[in-house]
Parts: sequence; structure tokens; C-alpha cells
Amino acid sequence: MSVSSSELVGLTGDSAQALSGPGLYAYSERIDSWTVRATKPVSYEVRVADGLFDLTRTDLLEPAGAPGQRTRRFVVLDANVDLLHGSRIRAYFDYHDVEYHLCVVPANETVKDFDTTARVVRELDAFGIDRRREPVIVIGGGVLMDIVGLASSLYRRGTPFIRVPTTLIGLVDAGVGAKTGVNFNGHKNRLGTYFPADLTLLDRSFLSTIDRRHIGNGLAEILKIALIKDVRLFRLLEEHGPLLLDEKFQGECEQGEDVAREVVRRAIHGMLEELQPNLWETTLERCVDYGHTFSPTVEMRALPELLHGEAVCIDMALTTVIAHRRGLVDTVDRDRVLAVMRSLELPVWDELLNQPELLTAALLDTVRHRDGLQRLPLPHGIGEAVFVNDLTERELLDAVAELGDLAQGLAQGLAQDLAQDREGGRV
Ligand SMILES: NC(=O)c1ccc[n+]([C@@H]2O[C@H](COP(=O)([O-])OP(=O)(O)OC[C@H]3O[C@@H](n4cnc5c(N)ncnc54)[C@H](O)[C@@H]3O)[C@@H](O)[C@H]2O)c1
Ligand SMILES: [Zn+2]
Repeated sequence: MSVSSSELVGLTGDSAQALSGPGLYAYSERIDSWTVRATKPVSYEVRVADGLFDLTRTDLLEPAGAPGQRTRRFVVLDANVDLLHGSRIRAYFDYHDVEYHLCVVPANETVKDFDTTARVVRELDAFGIDRRREPVIVIGGGVLMDIVGLASSLYRRGTPFIRVPTTLIGLVDAGVGAKTGVNFNGHKNRLGTYFPADLTLLDRSFLSTIDRRHIGNGLAEILKIALIKDVRLFRLLEEHGPLLLDEKFQGECEQGEDVAREVVRRAIHGMLEELQPNLWETTLERCVDYGHTFSPTVEMRALPELLHGEAVCIDMALTTVIAHRRGLVDTVDRDRVLAVMRSLELPVWDELLNQPELLTAALLDTVRHRDGLQRLPLPHGIGEAVFVNDLTERELLDAVAELGDLAQGLAQGLAQDLAQDREGGRV
């Protein structure tokens, strides 16, 4: 390694440890070593941009090409989004005379891997971009945004990119944080980077074509934020969850519009409030990890049966029961939480929970990930969280057994409701 003389300004040489301020380096003569410290300010924007592909909007055209040059964009597009929205996306770029390449990727959890990332990078390299003026654009769900985020962070050691989330998980979660990643060796997001998009543009109209199950999937991550830090958000879900599912956040009635807008805003606000002071996850006690202790292992084992949010919901149901058994959540609130999960059409149970070795392996893997401690977020009432490090296998298995009974009771109650509705001619 060579160090130019101008970079040696901080060298004092004779002291045992010549510490300099942030941004300079420290030299220790005693052990003949240099320590480099630098900080890099990070800023990125998450912008509500309904009607993003209206011809009058210019969010995706900035910055423009160099003087006298056409604006160029490399656009990675989810294959399903292409089928449903591709024509208006093409019309937009054609109208604005943009030179663009559409890299269409069939994206789902089973192809969230390094091969797909490499494919994107190959096409990106063939197109070639000017890093200052031609940010990569990704239009898709959490899977594609995670893949393209990883590709962008690797390409030329970091290339700016813009996210346009098209699923609910994308809008409120995957599209707003700093993490990228792909699955590797059977492990969820095992390869990844911290590399936020410069800009995320939120257009709820994409959700109109999402199927009902994927709306529920996103509602699970919203419920997570509600349970750990926002009781008002919980009440909105409790009162209007089915309306949000029915209307797919499109605000078909006036109340639906108000609720959809507030739910999305509160979810993103809560998420960013937690992320900003801990963007690089130096603090391992993260309440946004709620629901993500057992779920990564359960999700990967169940693949493709369980969606991400569904696995998170099962984890939240289990940890709600654990919290109740510890006296952190009372019975009324525990039952409210489980009822909201059911009203959002989310699972609270999976047969995989009957495999104790799977759950203990999941906990072990999480402990490894959290530097040797469980740091398990548990709800404290509704709207607050605490962290514990002393969950035992016995306690876990007892909670699983209790959740199994509760889930059975809920399923029976649901079946009875359905039967009554049928008798009353409502189904
Ligand atoms: N980076 C993060 O911080 C973060 C946070 C949460 C989740 N995630 C990741 O996100 C992924 C889950 O995201 P997801 O639920 O969006 O899954 P996804 O990207 O697989 O999308 C779900 C399905 O919907 C389709 N689709 C996308 N947009 C559509 C539209 N507008 N209309 C119709 N169909 C559409 C996709 O083709 C796919 O089949 C997981 O891999 C998870 O790990 C990442
Ligand atoms: Zn998640």
C-alpha cells in the first residue's frame, strides 16, 4: 500500500499513540500500525409520488443527460409488473425521449440469488452508464429491489440507484431502508450490503394489481411497526384492516383513501424513525427486528409456501404468546393482536412450529447474528417493545403448545362465523 506524503499530515511519529481527530488517521510507533478513521455522511430521500408515470412528472428524469446528450436510464423491471404496467412505463420514457434499456427479471424469492444479480450486472455493463447522471432504476417488489440494490452497490464499487416499489412490502419496508441482499446457501439474505437508494418514489397505484394475499403480506410488516411503537396504527388496522385488503390501498371511498394514506405514512415514519439513528445497525437491539427472530429460518424452510410477511406474522404470534406468558401483555391485548392477524387474513400458525429443533436452530442462528445475545424484542402491551436475553427452550416449547391451542380455537371460531354467515345467506 502506498500513502502519499500529503496524506501523512496527521503523523506525529514520536508518541506511543498519536491520535488525530475524526477524518484523520492515528499512527502508533509502539506497534508500527496506522488506524484510519473516516466518516461518510449519508442522505437519501423517500418521496410520495402518486401518478409517477403521468407524463407531466419528471422525478425519474433528473438529472438530465449532459448538455446536448439524451437522458439515459438502465431500468430493471419485475416481469409481472412489466405485464401489467409495462406499456405505460415504456410510453413514459418514449414520450420524454429517454434512451433506455429495460432489463426484465422474473422475480420471486426462489430466484433471489447471486445468479440473478450477476445477470443484472451483465446487462448493466453492456448498456454502460455515466454514474453521475444515469442512476439505475428498479421497479418491482422487495425481491427485485434487494437484488438491484446489491448489484448497484457492487457495480464499480457503488452506483447510484432509484427504487420504485410496486408491492406493499416494498412501499413500507424494503423500499425505505438501507439493506440489500440475496439468499445464499439456503440462508435468507446471507449475501448483502448496506447501500440505500438515493431516492425512493412511492406510487400507491401499483398496488391495484397486487393480489389480496400480497396485500396481507405487506400488512404484516405494518402490523409489526404498530405493535412495537404505534398504538394508533394498531387501532387503524383493527378498525379498517379488511377495508384496506378490499380496496388494496386505492382509496375507493373517502374513508378508504384517508386510512390508506395515514397507514402508509405512519408505517414509513415509524420505520425511518427507528432506522435513521442506527442505519448501519451498530446497535443490535433493533425493535424493527420484531417478528424476525424465528421467521428467517421458518420462511426459508417453508419456501415457497410462506411469504415473507406471513412468516413474520407467525413469529409475531409466537412472541406475543411468549410476552403474554411473561406478563408483558395482558390476555385482552393478546387476543386483540391475534384477532387482527386473522382479520388481515394472515397465518398465526404453521406446522413447522411442531419441529422444536427447527426453532432452537433459528434462535441459535439469530443469536449468532446478534453478536452472542438473543436481544429478542417482545411486545410490552401494544405499542412498545422490550428486549430479553433469557428465553429458554422449555419456555419456547410451552409457548408453541399454547399458540397451537389458540390457533385451533381461532380456526374453529372462524369456521363457525363462516357457517353462520352461510345460514344467514351472507356468503
Ligand atoms: N431490504 C429490506 O430492508 C427488506 C425489508 C423487507 C423485506 N425485504 C425483502 O422483500 C422481499 C419480499 O418482498 P415482496 O413481498 O415485495 O415480494 P416480491 O418482490 O417477490 O413480489 C411479490 C410478487 O408480486 C409480483 N408483483 C410485484 N409488483 C406487482 C404489481 N404491482 N402487481 C402485480 N404483481 C406484482 C412479483 O412479481 C412477485 O411475484 C423478501 O425477499 C424480503 O427479504 C427486504
Ligand atoms: Zn421483514
